[in-house]
Amino acid sequence: MNKRGRFITFEGIDGSGKSTQISLLKKHIEQCDASCYETLEPSGGPVGAMLRQCLSGRMKTDEKTLAALFAADRLDHLLNENDGICSKIEQGINVICDRYILSSYAYQSVRVPLDWVMQLNEQAIQTLKPDCHIFIDVTPDTALERMAQGRFHKDLFETKERLTEVRQRYLELIDTLQEKETIFIIDGNQTIEKISADIWNKVQHFFL
Ligand code: TMP
Repeated sequence: MNKRGRFITFEGIDGSGKSTQISLLKKHIEQCDASCYETLEPSGGPVGAMLRQCLSGRMKTDEKTLAALFAADRLDHLLNENDGICSKIEQGINVICDRYILSSYAYQSVRVPLDWVMQLNEQAIQTLKPDCHIFIDVTPDTALERMAQGRFHKDLFETKERLTEVRQRYLELIDTLQEKETIFIIDGNQTIEKISADIWNKVQHFFL
């Protein structure tokens, strides 16, 4: 029988450099002769497509509906028969996911009660708990500077006020969830190489 794959999630405010670091971690994992599948939320599925329209402002909705859509997209991302994460993990494939439940807890709880957001995500966390969550911590100023380079529009949550609140929520949540979840805080204000080395240092034992 196949050994189950590992499930690693990346978290951070918009512009924290997650995608660069995910690509570098994938390379590290593959250099260990292990397979690695990279994915993201909102997912590429039908609910994810609707969420992208809400985030860009193309489709109007309220924050409670958004919270429910993120939770629905997550379950579809885990369970769908096309490219669901659960079946990959069962086949022994390691999966890195750009955002997971902590994103909903941190972003949605700014406007919607955290308890309710947690209830919405209960099925997802019972279905698949990450081996670890990696939180890349950057200041909102750094994040906004990075996003200003090479982008023409702002998504729904990409304001300094919202990112400041979201970062604060992430830090509080990490503090309260430390006993239940394995969460690493990585200093994202360092060079790309140093951030990547810090991340590898935390997760290499899964693959060596
Ligand atoms: P990203 O593609 O830059 O990571 O953007 C996705 C946006 O969606 C980002 O602003 C965070 C937001 N988001 C939530 O608010 N809740 C969630 O559960 C997820 C997955 C993303």
